[in-house]
Amino acid sequence: MAEFSAPGVLAPVVSNIWDQERSWTLETYRKNGGYEGLAQAWSYGEGELTQMIKDSGLAGRGGAGFPTGLKWSFLPAPDGGPRYLVVNADESEPGTCKDIPALMANPHSLIEGMAICLLAVGGSHGFVYLRGEVVHVYRRLMAAAREAREAGLIGKGVGPNKDRDIEITVHAGAGAYICGEETALLDSLEGRRGQPRLKPPFPAAAGLYARPTVINNVETISSVPGIVRNGVEWFTAMGTESAKGHGFFSLSGHVVRPGQYEAPLGITGRTLLELAGGIRPGHELKFWAVGGSSAPLFTPEHLDVPLDYNSVREAGSMLATRAIMMFDDTVSVVRVISRWTDFYQHESCGKCTPCREGTFWMRQIMHRLEEGKGKPGDVDLLYEIASNIQGRSFCALGDAAATPIKSGIEHFRDEFEAGYTTPARELFPYEKTPLFSEVGTR
Ligand SMILES: Cc1cc2nc3c(=O)[nH]c(=O)nc-3n(C[C@H](O)[C@H](O)[C@H](O)COP(=O)(O)O)c2cc1C
Ligand code: SF4
Repeated sequence: MAEFSAPGVLAPVVSNIWDQERSWTLETYRKNGGYEGLAQAWSYGEGELTQMIKDSGLAGRGGAGFPTGLKWSFLPAPDGGPRYLVVNADESEPGTCKDIPALMANPHSLIEGMAICLLAVGGSHGFVYLRGEVVHVYRRLMAAAREAREAGLIGKGVGPNKDRDIEITVHAGAGAYICGEETALLDSLEGRRGQPRLKPPFPAAAGLYARPTVINNVETISSVPGIVRNGVEWFTAMGTESAKGHGFFSLSGHVVRPGQYEAPLGITGRTLLELAGGIRPGHELKFWAVGGSSAPLFTPEHLDVPLDYNSVREAGSMLATRAIMMFDDTVSVVRVISRWTDFYQHESCGKCTPCREGTFWMRQIMHRLEEGKGKPGDVDLLYEIASNIQGRSFCALGDAAATPIKSGIEHFRDEFEAGYTTPARELFPYEKTPLFSEVGTR
C-alpha cells in the first residue's frame, strides 16, 4: 500500500490565487511570487532544468502520467533548426474539467511554465492548442500572453542578455475530442483534419512541422514554475512513493460541493468526498469514475485506495485526468454508460475499423438495453465487441470507449441484463434524480 506523505490535506499551488481579486492578471500573479521561477530559470546551465523536472518526479497530468522530465530529455541534440513546445488544452472528456478553470483563473502559471520549458529544451516558440468553443478562455490566454510580452517576460530578445526569443501562440481548435490525442492535435495545428498519426516517429523526434516537439498538458506545464521556485524537495514532499506532487481532483456529480480540489497525489476518494460535503443528503454512493469516463469504474469499496498511479492501477482502474464523478443510488449505470458511448461514437474519427464500426454497434446495443428492448445475449455480445475494440484500435479513443462498458458489465451485470425487459427509466425514474427533486416534474 502506498504511503501518503502529504504535509496538508489540500495543496493549492496552481489554484493558490484563484480566490484573489483579478487573479488572472500579471499584477496579482507577480504579487504572489509569479515569474520568480522564470527569473531563476535563466541562470540554469544546459540540461539542468530538465534534470530538475526529472528529479521532481512530475508526471504528465494529461492522462497517461508519463514522466515529464524524461519526455523533455527525449528531444534530439540541437541541429540549429526550430524545436517546439505544444500545450494540450483540448480538454473535453466527460467529467474532465480542470484545465479550463485553471486557464481562466491563473493563465500566467501556464505562460511562465511554457517559458521555462522552452528554456529547458532549447526552443523559442510554444503553442497552446485550445478548444475553440471556450472563447472566453481564448481571450483570457491571449490577454495574459500580451501582458507578459509587454512586461518583457516573453517575446523577442528577452532574458538577462536580451538575446533569446520566447514566442507564444494561442490556437483555437474547432472542438473535437480526438484533437486532444497528441498527434491528431499536431495535424490539426498544422491545418489538416485532426486524426492520429502513426508512431514512430514520436513527436520528440518529428512533431510539429516534423521538428522535435514536446507536448504536455496545461496542468503539467502550469506545475513547473512552482518546482523551479520552491525546489525539488518541496514538490517531492507531497504525494506518495510512486506519485509525487500535487494535482487537481475535479469532483462532480452527486456531491454536496462539487469543484476543483488541488491536493497531494495519494489522497483518497473518502477524504475528497468528505471535503466535498459527502453525497447529497438522503442518498448513498453507488459507483464513481476515478479518471474520467474512460477508466474502469470504482465502487464504494474503493474509497480508501490512495489516488496515485500505481495504487489505482493495482485496484483495477486508471488515475488518468483525476476527473472524479460520483453517482448516487438514483443513477442507472446503463444510462450513464449509454451517454458516454454516444460521446465516443460521435467523437470517433473514423480512421480505424474497430473503433469506427465498434462504437456504432456498442451504441446501438446500449440504446436497446437502456430502453428495455435488449435481445437475449446482448450483454455478452456487448462485452465481446468491447473486448475486440480494446487493444486493437489505432489510438486510445477506442480503448476509452470499450473500458467503461466492460467495467460496467463486470460490476453491474444484473442491471445490464434487466435491460432485456425493463427500461432504465422504470428502474431508475428520472423523478428521483437530483435535478428533478430540485425543480420538480413538468
Ligand atoms: C482521444 C484522446 C484525447 C485526449 N485528450 C487530451 C486532452 O484533452 N488534454 C491532454 O492534455 N491530453 C489529452 N490526451 C493525451 C495526450 O495524447 C497526451 O498524452 C498528453 O497531452 C501528454 O501530456 P502530459 O504528458 O503532460 O500528460 C488525449 C488522448 C487521447 C487518446
Ligand atoms: S481509435 Fe477511433 S479515434 Fe482513434 S484512430 Fe481509430 S477511429 Fe480514430
